[in-house]
Amino acid sequence: MVYKESKGFPEGFLWGSASAAYQVEGAWNEDGKGRTNWDEFVRIPGKTFKGTNGDVAVDHYHRYLEDVRLMAEMGLKTYRFSIAWARIYPEGRGEVNEAGLKFYEDLIDECLKYGIEPMVTIYHWDLPLALDTAYKGWEDRQIVDDYVNYAVTLFKRFGSKVKYWITMNEQNVFTTLGWMMALHPPGKAYDMKTFFQVNHHANIAHAKTVIEFKKLFPEGNIGASFAYGPSYAKDCAPDNVMAHLDYDDFRNYWWMDVYGFGRYPKSTWNYLVSQGLEPKLEAEDKQLMLEAAKLVDFMGVNYYQTTVVENNPIDGVGISTEMNTSGQKGTAKSQGIPGLFKDTKNPFLATTDWDWTIDPMGLRVCCRTITSRYDLPIVISENGLGAFDKVEADGSIHDPYRIAYLKAHIEELKKAVDDGSEVWAYCTWSYTDLLSWLNGYQKRYGFVYVDQDETMEGSLNRTPKDSYYWYKKVIETNGEVL
Ligand code: BG6
Repeated sequence: MVYKESKGFPEGFLWGSASAAYQVEGAWNEDGKGRTNWDEFVRIPGKTFKGTNGDVAVDHYHRYLEDVRLMAEMGLKTYRFSIAWARIYPEGRGEVNEAGLKFYEDLIDECLKYGIEPMVTIYHWDLPLALDTAYKGWEDRQIVDDYVNYAVTLFKRFGSKVKYWITMNEQNVFTTLGWMMALHPPGKAYDMKTFFQVNHHANIAHAKTVIEFKKLFPEGNIGASFAYGPSYAKDCAPDNVMAHLDYDDFRNYWWMDVYGFGRYPKSTWNYLVSQGLEPKLEAEDKQLMLEAAKLVDFMGVNYYQTTVVENNPIDGVGISTEMNTSGQKGTAKSQGIPGLFKDTKNPFLATTDWDWTIDPMGLRVCCRTITSRYDLPIVISENGLGAFDKVEADGSIHDPYRIAYLKAHIEELKKAVDDGSEVWAYCTWSYTDLLSWLNGYQKRYGFVYVDQDETMEGSLNRTPKDSYYWYKKVIETNGEVL
């Protein structure tokens, strides 16, 4: 649709940027923090690019004052960050660690001092190791109570200061990479049955947390952040169109329908039953999911790319346990679910060096679909370009490719607002450069360059890139000057 004129972004729009505890903080064993599943996983040879880890990361734990000051100078309206569960409960449950709470309280206060709205992710993948050891973490339903207890601790301490809460970051990604692709902890491959059970536990943890939050802070805002990658059918061959429907039911609506409707999509559920793969539900679960869906305030979207799909014969390609983590373009492999769908290249779109399709219009597709399907406000909680950056002889970093990427996405977001989507926030990924879980430090996303690399011995000095000054202007003009 083309409109005669654009309404522009609403007054008070939250221009933001994001991070996650394990990827930025470092200080992995300081001030009483417990060990996490990631602290262990990165130490298994071959799991991460050149054995990189987040022990030091970009040292946000010690340098948050400098980072927040740079955010304030940029004019950032919201900073999305996650809390490390193992800093609050070193054992995942039991005794609370005051030093952990204090760190986040200081960070929140520092943001508020400059008028930056803190947006807190409760879980961004780093699980206290003690819970893995005790009962295999997300595989056991006991995790629901421990997660809710941890979340409620955060609400009680920070709920009067933090207005935006995200329960789960990309449940689809951490479970797919953890139980299907063996690329994240616990490193299991093709364990479909456990994968769906784990997801159900996470759904109930999300639902109960939303319900508890609303009892404490009915005016606060809470939702989950989902890695939404819409699919396109390869062409109009009916079996490819069906593959596209199957893909969206399996890879998108399986989660989004839970957050937005409080139920699983019927076709996927029936397929799982036919394969004996459906999760086990307790008597109260359907009601909990429905109740939470009525209470959520927004749909959080992490948008990076779309996927083109086609029919996949029953003896066709399956899920891969490999990924392009080196930045050598063209090394990613096609994958799918036999009998349902497989992905294929989009001939109309360019890709990043890590083979992620660049599709700005896909962001408008996300917003349109969410608005029509769930009629929920939208928080874009991540969007950004992972790229190699070069430091010039004079120390400057010119990143026109990042500016072009973000500009094109914001233009499409503006159109989504004209379409009627109620978009509250746009957070880029990421604010500073950080550890890209599997891809080391060379895949950079930030506005602020951090001198850190695969040796993990960088000076950690911060330098704003060209994109930093560009985004400052975007914020100043509320998205009018791109
Ligand atoms: C999202 C995650 O999947 O995408 C982030 O929420 C992550 O934590 C980001 O860093 C980019 O992915 P990657 O693999 O390039 O670091």
